[in-house]
Amino acid sequence: MANRLIDPHGRHITYLRLSLTDRCNLRCFYCLPKGAKGFTTPDHWLNFDEIERLVAAFATLGVSRIRLTGGEPLVRPNVSSLVARLSAIPGVEDLSLSTNATLLANYAQPLKEAGVTRINVSLDSLKADRFAEITGGGELQPVLDGLVAAKQAGLHPVKINMVAMKGINDDEFPDMVRYCDENGFTLRLIETMPIGSTGRTATDHYLDLNPVRQQLMEQFDMVPGVMPGGGPARYIQAKASELRVGFITPISQHFCETCNRVRLSAEGVLYLCLGQEQSFDFRPLLRGGATDQELQAAIMQALALKPAQHHFNEEPEKIVRFMSKLGG
Ligand SMILES: C[S@@+](CC[C@H](N)C(=O)[O-])C[C@H]1O[C@@H](n2cnc3c(N)ncnc32)[C@H](O)[C@@H]1O
Ligand code: SF4
Repeated sequence: MANRLIDPHGRHITYLRLSLTDRCNLRCFYCLPKGAKGFTTPDHWLNFDEIERLVAAFATLGVSRIRLTGGEPLVRPNVSSLVARLSAIPGVEDLSLSTNATLLANYAQPLKEAGVTRINVSLDSLKADRFAEITGGGELQPVLDGLVAAKQAGLHPVKINMVAMKGINDDEFPDMVRYCDENGFTLRLIETMPIGSTGRTATDHYLDLNPVRQQLMEQFDMVPGVMPGGGPARYIQAKASELRVGFITPISQHFCETCNRVRLSAEGVLYLCLGQEQSFDFRPLLRGGATDQELQAAIMQALALKPAQHHFNEEPEKIVRFMSKLGG
């Protein structure tokens, strides 16, 4: 489908990240605080009919890639049935999921059958005690079981997202590289972002990933590489295997000039940038009887609000919402 979504900075928007809930069954300290309150209630979330209509409107305008995220998307009931509906929308070519994998062991096969092709899994440590500390008491084993199930279900690629934190897990990169190599997973290291009070706390552990990249290239005999559909990550790949490691560096080297995405919160608010506040609320339109043409016109109107870039470095205090609202 021809892409009609070009933002004021000349970027083609082809990718929609869709949060299904702001709730989560973990409490990663850099994302959601332990006593977090004020979650949106399910009656405020777009229902599956509303999500399907809105995604169809985006797809008509040329968005071809959809990622389901959260909070934790798998705590929302019946995600597989939503996946089946979204993957049937003409123009949707790629449907993926970001998850903490705690519930994935039971969901991997149904999700694959419903149309999810690939997944990203958050995993910051392979040590059970450290994993529990980072996630506010989470158990590592169900996540590892979920990853086995994902592989068995044929979800590919499986990307492991590891937030790289000085003094927390910066001694584990080689172990994580080996784990991914053994299992055929792709590893992505992510710099901490100052999103919400939690994200700002985490930036105390900020680690510039450029030296890490250099070190891993030498240690694992890797060269600069590419990853089809790799998004903002810059990859290195092993000379002797399929192993790839990506680096997502919004702080040390931002990638805003190639941004191709927008993000929808569970209650239907479209955010034009992860690191800015511009937004457009679609729920009143969806619940007020807007036609498909009116929805499409509203999407074009919202796109005009897309800023050129985030200001994480210049204004680290700016974003008060937690990362779990939009899902990264
Ligand atoms: C908010 S989670 C939502 C999806 C799912 N619950 C998961 O953990 O993959 C999406 C991604 O955001 C990352 N994230 C959360 N807070 C962050 C922060 N302050 N800085 C960098 N990445 C963060 C997580 O590690 C995860 O990879
Ligand atoms: S990063 Fe994902 S798993 Fe961790 S608290 Fe945030 S939403 Fe939950």
